[in-house]
Amino acid sequence: MAEERIYEEFGQYIVPSSWKDKVWDIKEYQRFHENTIKDKKAIENWWEKWANKLFWFKKWDRVLDDSNPPFYKWFVGAETNLSYLCLDWQIEQGRKNKLALIWEGEPYDETVKKPKELKKFTYYDLYQQTNRIAYALREKLGVKKDEILTFYMPMIPELLLYMLAVQRLGASHSIVYSGFSALALAERAIAAGSRIIVTADALYRRGKVKPLKEIVDEAVNICEKRGHNIEHVIVVNRTDRPGIPWKEIKDIWHHEFIKDIPENARIEPERLKSDSISYILYTSGTTGKPKGVQHSIGGYAVGLCATMKLIFDINEEDIYWCVADIGWVTGHSYIVYGPLMTGTTTIMYEGAPDYPWPDRWWDIIERYAVTVFYTTPTAIRMLMKFPLDLIKKHDLSTLRIIHSVGEPINPKVFHWYFKNLGREDVVATSTWWMTETGQILTGHFPGLGKIFPLKPGTNGFPLPGVKMEVLDVDGNPCNPGERGYLVISTPWPSMLTTLYQDPERYIDVYWSKFTKNKQWRFYTGDYAVKDQDGYLWVLGRADDVLKVAGHRVGTAEIESAMLMHPTVVESACIGKPHKLKGEVPCIFTVLKQGVSPSPELETELKLHLRKTIGPIVASDAIILFVETVPKTRSGKIMRRLLKAVITGQKLGDITTLEDPTAVKEAERAYQYLK
Ligand code: WTA
Repeated sequence: MAEERIYEEFGQYIVPSSWKDKVWDIKEYQRFHENTIKDKKAIENWWEKWANKLFWFKKWDRVLDDSNPPFYKWFVGAETNLSYLCLDWQIEQGRKNKLALIWEGEPYDETVKKPKELKKFTYYDLYQQTNRIAYALREKLGVKKDEILTFYMPMIPELLLYMLAVQRLGASHSIVYSGFSALALAERAIAAGSRIIVTADALYRRGKVKPLKEIVDEAVNICEKRGHNIEHVIVVNRTDRPGIPWKEIKDIWHHEFIKDIPENARIEPERLKSDSISYILYTSGTTGKPKGVQHSIGGYAVGLCATMKLIFDINEEDIYWCVADIGWVTGHSYIVYGPLMTGTTTIMYEGAPDYPWPDRWWDIIERYAVTVFYTTPTAIRMLMKFPLDLIKKHDLSTLRIIHSVGEPINPKVFHWYFKNLGREDVVATSTWWMTETGQILTGHFPGLGKIFPLKPGTNGFPLPGVKMEVLDVDGNPCNPGERGYLVISTPWPSMLTTLYQDPERYIDVYWSKFTKNKQWRFYTGDYAVKDQDGYLWVLGRADDVLKVAGHRVGTAEIESAMLMHPTVVESACIGKPHKLKGEVPCIFTVLKQGVSPSPELETELKLHLRKTIGPIVASDAIILFVETVPKTRSGKIMRRLLKAVITGQKLGDITTLEDPTAVKEAERAYQYLK
């Protein structure tokens, strides 16, 4: 299990050389933290300070309305707009000609050998282009307040521009990661009620051109079959690929769409209520149906502004690079909205970390003199495989903050990147958060001017103003060093406001498990430990959610996809630890009577997974054929036993197991794999 891999009882302390004189005594930090959470007033004061750093068309009447939990409302009565915050307000503060976005495409020739094609955008460039798109969306397609557009796009500047354009109009976006299938895209577009999809002809990945338009066309057909009409598909021409299927009227080229919109077209940003919807983002849970996590505007902005400063210590001259894909929450919050609303220069890179050479990332850091870097353990593990010379040949001395996110980081991996990337002189933490939290919630806070000692593998401490606890199954606090469930015991500004059109599920999934005696607690779904010093160690998911290379997928989604194949009657999916990817899906599969297992069928099922969910799941899935899967007498699949089989752990209590041969079956199948 992941926890044994990473949790070291005491851990060791490290202080980066430049911070030697700026170290909190841990107890002193804890007292400071306690003071920010001791009551509602303290929490409000803490966040109000950050809110006062932002622009508001109208300020709030109340910081936090907690009269109807868990439907908390932040900055009640206030009005703002994310597009205004990220663009107009930056220009007003004198950043008109400051570089806002540096975009680097994957094809190396395009960006390096022909420097004039480098895509650098000032705040004014972004402002102008966003306005033109917003203008076209409103005038040509009638996009208005409250509508949700679905984006299925590569990492290109137009994605960011469309996000900001939509915000300007008071509409919202739902971004579907480009590694999802046509079916997954269609289901999300239907759930969001989108009539417009924005996409590109294709994307570049490791030198190959991967079509997107065809996938969108397939999704549009699925939508139609299910009675949902996608009226328009806007297509950015990324690769100039010939022979793209095209339907007049429905399909619109982005360049045609904005061609006749004058350079000086302007759209007044809508004044939006603080709790209006900025976006929804579908994410995986424990059932097959993805959850539409809904985010606010005012509270969301405050959480991002605070964490850009506290966690990344952002200053005017920083060059900031977060390597996530905008299809996931990290890209939303920490490539687009957070950096831009704090006037930062943000880098967006289109391609793979190791293409065309394994030092592509180090080359980017050197060329742009990146100072703040945000990455993932999966990527570090992959890049660790290559010779150190590849790092040494680059000047990475500009880096001063290098955080990671998405999954637990093994202390060994932490040491590697702290030393080789960070010269042992950076602040580095594994910042914990999730789609639902909208903002980072744990880490180190160099933005306060002082840090507590780093401890490899930990997630640091909860942010000031946020109380987090580790509880046992009955909701009692665990002792230091004991594993329990991670909960958030106070509301925080960037929190989700609900699940889109499903408030009951919102309560049920997050707030019912640990709420007791009117003390509302948000259940994260993670296992964690607080160690003797109070540092948090998030160990991994406690529910049926996998993190494959940091990508979040539900085992239930995978199982229901398997059932859609005519040869499968039942399947049980668990996460199998994997050296590079953290974990990969391992699917115990029962076939229909008369169907025999074969390598061909295995390939076919993987292809089927690729079609139904997407390559993120399919490329590393392990399919094991069994006669039956272990179940309780009441028919519930005992995934715990399957997990024990593949990790070689003790089975534990098996009194409720209906048929012991099922475990033998799993062992046999797993043995065969080995
Ligand atoms: C995991 C990603 C350990 C965790 C921002 C959480 C982490 C899930 C960390 C959310 C970390 C995220 N250390 N685990 N620093 N960061 N996780 O919604 O299991 O894609 O519940 O958001 O990622 O994944 P999501």
